[in-house]
Amino acid sequence: MKPSRAKAPLSIVAVIVCAFAFAGVLYTEDVGLLRSATVFTLGACFKQDELSGEGGDGGVGGSRRIKFDPEKCNVMKGTWVYNASIKPTYTDETCPYVDLQVSCGKNGRPDSDYLNWEWQPDECDLPRFDPEAALEKLRGKRLMFVGDSLQRGQWQSFVCLVESYIPAEQKSMRRGRALSVFKAKEYNASIEFYWAPFLVQSNSDLHIIGDPNKRILRVDSILKHAKNWKGVDILVFNTYVWWMSGLRIKSLWGSFTNGEEGFEELDAPIAYRIGLKTWANWVDSTIDPNKTRVFFTTMSPTHMRSADWHNRKGIRCYNETIPVLEKGYWGSGSDLRIMKVVSSIVDRMKVPVTFINITQISEHRKDAHTSVYTEIQGKVLDDEQKLNPKKYADCIHWCLPGVPDTWNQLFYAYL
Ligand SMILES: *[C@@H]1O[C@H](CO)[C@@H](O)[C@H](O)[C@H]1NC(C)=O
Ligand SMILES: *[C@@H]1O[C@H](CO)[C@@H](O)[C@H](O)[C@H]1NC(C)=O
Ligand SMILES: *[C@@H]1O[C@H](CO)[C@@H](O)[C@H](O)[C@H]1NC(C)=O
Ligand SMILES: *[C@@H]1O[C@H](CO)[C@@H](O)[C@H](O)[C@H]1NC(C)=O
Ligand SMILES: *[C@@H]1O[C@H](CO)[C@@H](O)[C@H](O)[C@H]1NC(C)=O
Repeated sequence: MKPSRAKAPLSIVAVIVCAFAFAGVLYTEDVGLLRSATVFTLGACFKQDELSGEGGDGGVGGSRRIKFDPEKCNVMKGTWVYNASIKPTYTDETCPYVDLQVSCGKNGRPDSDYLNWEWQPDECDLPRFDPEAALEKLRGKRLMFVGDSLQRGQWQSFVCLVESYIPAEQKSMRRGRALSVFKAKEYNASIEFYWAPFLVQSNSDLHIIGDPNKRILRVDSILKHAKNWKGVDILVFNTYVWWMSGLRIKSLWGSFTNGEEGFEELDAPIAYRIGLKTWANWVDSTIDPNKTRVFFTTMSPTHMRSADWHNRKGIRCYNETIPVLEKGYWGSGSDLRIMKVVSSIVDRMKVPVTFINITQISEHRKDAHTSVYTEIQGKVLDDEQKLNPKKYADCIHWCLPGVPDTWNQLFYAYL
């Protein structure tokens, strides 16, 4: 009794919208996120001797690891470990909710090793995602992911990780242009996604404007979106890649009195700071931390420059089949200025916000993007398009199953 894919009311408009959104990002390669050459040092982490006596032996290399404790374990520090016996709990065939855009297997991806890597923090073991325990934690609650298409991937991953444990008549899915809702009736729980790629309002939210230079952001307006976030028990936000798709961000303040002409052009990190501050003010003034938990998924890195990992002949992430295994690898696909903005704003908020810090972990995974196993305007790339990765390889989005399942493993550990 597999619910049919055709039933999901994902409108053709949404499909086109997504294709354009992607095109907007795809065709502006000379963007900020490719410029910042980065030197990266890992944050201070606790010393090995603090661990002694605390816990059992980890598997790999017999090193000592403690039980996962978000306060103590720096999960960002670790390695991807190949494990041939891992089987993803779902596929893009078994889970009816995976969008065509990220259904790499169905779209013809020939290799599958990218599904066999597990993130292993150095200092602790990350708990496995336990679908029944996750559903139990959501009992009587609304969980909502808010943000862009990468956040939508995390939402679909979460739904797919739990949905096979729910009998067909006990679950439902309603896809909408802005809000999509998966319900687990027996648990009286919902797992929702709200589309707001900048979090703040813009002229390119539902009617996506392909040309980044024509997008105008209302950096101090959020209520039109945020009114849909009220009453949710667990909110998970993200916003990043859309800010990076033009060199400068056309930004508007206040009401429309000065029309759409009155914008100012700001550098992305400056506009981002104002936009995120608007979000932070909304959270601080609206959210009761005793009732609602707030999470923020950090930047999802892109893999647009194969020179970053010394593959000089490569075309972005095209044909990559293994992760970058160099420890602490940091490429040019995440803008550290944005990371600084995020931490400085969140540090000063009243309402506690938990980071799902996926950036460093995902930096390694040049092998796990959708690349040419994706769609454009609702159609899987044809063979000719697949042979033209310069034009078509998507090195922003991630295959499902895949890396977003690890993001949810991390999220689950904090839940
Ligand atoms: C590999 O995966 C299997 C199945 O999930 C698990 O039982 C085993 O412990 C893993 N091996 C290592 C070395 O982590
Ligand atoms: C179901 O959950 C909602 C919140 O999502 C809550 O308002 C309602 O009271 C719950 N109903 C039952 C029967 O538990
Ligand atoms: C949250 O709960 C604590 C302890 O019950 C209470 O002191 C605090 O005032 C509450 N905060 C809000 C915003 O209601
Ligand atoms: C991509 O990989 C395939 C299979 O390994 C190979 O035949 C092809 O030449 C590669 N393409 C490029 C552009 O490297
Ligand atoms: C996320 O983790 C990286 C290290 O992997 C760190 O540099 C960065 O500051 C963290 N970001 C936040 C917002 O905490």
